[in-house]
Formats: sequence, C-alpha cells, structure tokens
Amino acid sequence: MSETTSRIRFILNDRPVAIETIAPTATLLDYLRLTRRLTGSKEGCAEGDCGACTVLVGRLAGDDLVYESVNACIRFVGSLNATHVVTVEHLAATDGTLHPVQQAMVDWHGSQCGFCTPGIVMSLYGLWLSKDAPTRTDIEKALQGNLCRCTGYEPIVKAAEAVARLRPDALFDPILKTRTEIRAALSELANAGTIVVGEAGRTLIVPGTVAGLAEVLAQHPQSTIVAGSTDVGLWVTKQMRAIDPVVFIGGLQELQAIREDATGITIGAGVSYSAAFPALSAAVPALAPLIDRIGGEQVRNMGTIGGNIANGSPIGDTPPPLIALGATLTLRSASGTRSLPLEDFFIAYGRQDRAAGEFVESVFVPSLPEGTHFAVYKISKRRDEDISALCGAFRIALNGDGTVTDARIAFGGMAATPKRAATVEAALLGKVWSEDTVTAAQGAFEQDYQPLSDWRATAEYRLLTAKNLLLRFFLETGGDEVQVRRFEGVA
Ligand code: FES
Ligand code: FES
Repeated sequence: MSETTSRIRFILNDRPVAIETIAPTATLLDYLRLTRRLTGSKEGCAEGDCGACTVLVGRLAGDDLVYESVNACIRFVGSLNATHVVTVEHLAATDGTLHPVQQAMVDWHGSQCGFCTPGIVMSLYGLWLSKDAPTRTDIEKALQGNLCRCTGYEPIVKAAEAVARLRPDALFDPILKTRTEIRAALSELANAGTIVVGEAGRTLIVPGTVAGLAEVLAQHPQSTIVAGSTDVGLWVTKQMRAIDPVVFIGGLQELQAIREDATGITIGAGVSYSAAFPALSAAVPALAPLIDRIGGEQVRNMGTIGGNIANGSPIGDTPPPLIALGATLTLRSASGTRSLPLEDFFIAYGRQDRAAGEFVESVFVPSLPEGTHFAVYKISKRRDEDISALCGAFRIALNGDGTVTDARIAFGGMAATPKRAATVEAALLGKVWSEDTVTAAQGAFEQDYQPLSDWRATAEYRLLTAKNLLLRFFLETGGDEVQVRRFEGVA
C-alpha cells in the first residue's frame, strides 16, 4: 500500500487541527458542539434538511480556493482532511463587531427565535463569498436548504440583497484577508498517501489517490465508500448504524474531473451536483430544473452523481434521466476498469453490478443527437428538498415524417430499481408520434411496472402519473396544434 499516516488534519476557523482518534462515523456537528464547544451551529433535523447546522468547508480545486456551504450534521470528520472548516463563530471581529452579513440580518430583522439564524448566516456568507451580484434566484437557491419557522423569508432575502449591494473593502473578512495563507496551508495538508485512523472495528481510511483507493478496496472489499455522505450520513444519525471501515473519497481530485468532447460529458464519481450543474445543464438544459430540486444548496455541494448511482436507490434523482440519455458507467478496481450501460448496473433492490473491490470511477453522458427530444419530470410532495415519489425521463428521436425512430424511457420510484419502460418504448417505436400512439402506449406501463404503495404515493397514483407524464411529454413535443386543442378542452 502507498505510504500511510494516521492523522486527519484540517483548519478549523483560525486553528490547525490534527486528529488521531475519532470514530469513522463521527459527525462534524458533534465534533464542533461536543468536542470543541463551538455551539453556534445547531442541530435541528440531523438529516440535511433544515440547514441549522450549516458551516462552510473550503478546499483547493486546482489553484482555486473554494468555499461551499455544507450540512455539518451529516458530514463526517473523516472527510475533512486538507480542508478549512469555517463556523459562525469565525465571522465577527475579535472586538465583537459583527460581520456585514450578520449585521444585515440585524438591520433587516431577519431573526426571531434565532435557532435557524447561524445556519442562515453561513449560507448567506457562502453566497456573499462566491457571488458579487447575486440575483433573487441566486439568493433563494442559497437559502433553499435553510428552514425558518418564524421569521419568514422576505427579511432574510432583503438582508442578502443589502449585503450584496454593500460589498465593502474585504479586509475585515476573516477568509478574504487570509486567502494566501490558507491556500498554502491546505496544500501542505494535502496528502498523496493513505490516511488510516483507528484500529480494527473502528477504522476510517482516506486514500490520497485513485490508485491508492483501488489498493485499499482490494484489501478491504467490504468497506463502505463515502463521497458526499448525504445518504450514508442518515444511516448514522437516523438508523444509528455502525459502519466500519469507512473509506472517504470526497477529497480525491482525480475523481472530480469533468471532461467534455463532441461525443458527450464524462463526470468523475466525486463531482458534486453543484460542480456538475454548469456542464450538464448546458449540454442538456432539461436537467437544470431537476438538479436544482435535489436537496438544498448544502446537499448539492456535498452529494455526488457517482454516489447517487452507486447507492442504488430506486428513487435516486439522477439515474432515470441518465439511463434515458444512454449513459455508461465505468467501474475500476486494482485489476483494471470496465464499462457497462448504466441501466445494467442496477440488478435488484439493494444489489448492483459492482464486484468486491470495485468502485464507480465515472459516468459518461452522451450528447443528445440533433432532433432528439428529452425531458425529465420529478414528482414529489414538496417542490424543494423532497424525495421523488416517482421520476420519469423520456428521450425520443423522430424522422422527417414524425415517426419514432428511437425511444428511451426510464423511471425511478416505479420498481425495485431505476428501470427502463421497455414495453412502452416498443409500443412507440416505428409509430407516428401522435396522440393516438401515445394513448395506445400508455397501457404498456402496466407491463413494465408494478409499483408499490408507500407513504410517498400509492401504486395507482404512480401508474396513472407515469401514463400522464408520457402524455405531457407528447404535448410538450407534439406541436402547437395538439397543445392548443388539449388546453382548450381543459378550459
Ligand atoms: Fe438540519 Fe443539519 S441539523 S440540516
Ligand atoms: Fe426562529 Fe428562524 S428565527 S426558526
């Protein structure tokens, strides 16, 4: 194995930290509140929904120093090597003068009981650091993962607008005035070797390279691989599961590459939703509203597309559109790599085509051929911060006569795995893309899917909605004449 060390090292506010003993599942929030007595960050939900625990985590991305809001409640300490953790305690000056973001919250009456306020301040601070002139949409996106039960959001948005307008000399700001020193310190902490902390039964491992990761998994094939921990975090905080050993891959820059060429986009398994957003939404604009509805900003900063796939959940947000787009997955192990169509990765509930020692290295999303129509629809009880009841993605190609020459349809939430609607596709292929064809094909959903009833939706609702989504897709691609007729009929 590559050279090993036994300490997790990072910067906490203005202090270096080196940890030699910690449980693999210790959360950053517990570490801050219980070990460091930094109690500004609050615990509300402990599952990444409310944002009361929001802190910033800074990391090197090439030559850049990037700060992102994250949920400390589901972020593990083991994932923090070579990062800068910034909590609300770091914002005010040593003489007690509030940071302008905090002062704006006071001036605009953005706080009542105050429980959500530290998290909201940190989300607004992250926005202030990253955007000079945020739009209302930017502000709302930054606050999407922060719940406030009493103030109401308008004063908070006004505070964000006010502080963006001010943008005074940055010398008062604890991050901006020390950027050079922080960058140098983080690059000194970056480790190409492997970090192993703990003993048998309580081990966390942080490989420094992808080759090192392959070595680690060859030796510990039963490890739990953790990238963003937006799901595994809940195994710990909600199910109290003991996980061992845990292998943290979130710091591997080799897995964070996005490569684009004429054939498509290759996304490394460690690329977060936020990082993938610009390239994916430019190539396939219909993906933009879907990605914006994955968790809140903190979750999108932590969660990865690779993790969403590897996790194998039947209701993950990204597998249905990626399957419909014809994505392929590359898996790697110490003995090499192999690729397979994404839909073949999902074998059965909780079972994926991943051999012992293998890990997801990247996903390739092919470009949409000219003249192809694509859409994805997420159906959930709430617009934001909710899990899909079902998610359907549709890709069709038509020839000059309007005949369907290619059809790929995939759903999540309709079966034990994300799954293609092969019978519906067959019912469309070779037919004219018309309302009659679509209506006839709707019945085929019953052969493709026998969904379950659960607290998110009944089986009947799921089937009916899937059929209706096909009709919606047709109406959105079938020309004005059909749409006008349909909407007149409704009126
Ligand atoms: Fe609610 Fe962390 S405590 S998101
Ligand atoms: Fe009370 Fe936001 S001020 S929860």
